[in-house]
Amino acid sequence: MGMSVTISVATEQDAEQIFRLQYLCFQSEAALYGNYRIAPLVQTLDSVRQELVSDCVFVARLGDEVVGSVRGSITEDGAAAIGKLCVHPRLQGHGIGARLLRAAESALAEERGAKRFRLIAGHRSEGNLRLYRRVGYEAVGTSQGTDGVPMIVLEKAAGTYAATA
Ligand SMILES: CC(C)(COP(=O)(O)OP(=O)(O)OC[C@H]1O[C@@H](n2cnc3c(N)ncnc32)[C@H](O)[C@@H]1OP(=O)(O)O)[C@@H](O)C(=O)NCCC(=O)NCCS
Repeated sequence: MGMSVTISVATEQDAEQIFRLQYLCFQSEAALYGNYRIAPLVQTLDSVRQELVSDCVFVARLGDEVVGSVRGSITEDGAAAIGKLCVHPRLQGHGIGARLLRAAESALAEERGAKRFRLIAGHRSEGNLRLYRRVGYEAVGTSQGTDGVPMIVLEKAAGTYAATA
């Protein structure tokens, strides 16, 4: 590939880069649903800063540039909610998304005691759903975002890794 992308824990200094990357990456989802009020697009920089303090946040870096991000936190029922997975459009399709997901899952299980992982995907986001199924997630229900987009809820038990992951 001729490039070396590393995955590491995000620092507070990464807030602006994560904020801008997320805004760029989720344009394709907004276009797919004709909805530019989806949560990753309306999240404020302050809210991203807060998540960096409270959540498990990972970034993918190419040199000094943040080219991918994901976060997760433990919910009231003890499952870990993973979200806002994104990879720069220029670097998608090289496994960075799957690596970010794996890093978040490991940290949430090992450092925060997660026994299950949960994430949501737009019902028409075929590529995203394929990625999640490939690494062992199964649809467990549906939900509706505040933006009105129907979402599919997927879960997997900690320690479940698909053979091809
Ligand atoms: C979802 C997202 C984070 C995935 O990131 P990614 O880095 O492209 O993910 P991966 O590379 O791990 O997997 C994507 C595809 O590349 C393929 N792939 C992975 N490694 C590969 C490699 N080394 N060579 C060729 N293809 C590869 C995967 O098999 C997968 O193929 P598929 O689409 O046919 O299933 C990215 O598309 C994104 O930012 N989308 C916009 C935001 C978004 O929708 N986020 C998710 C919200 S639920």
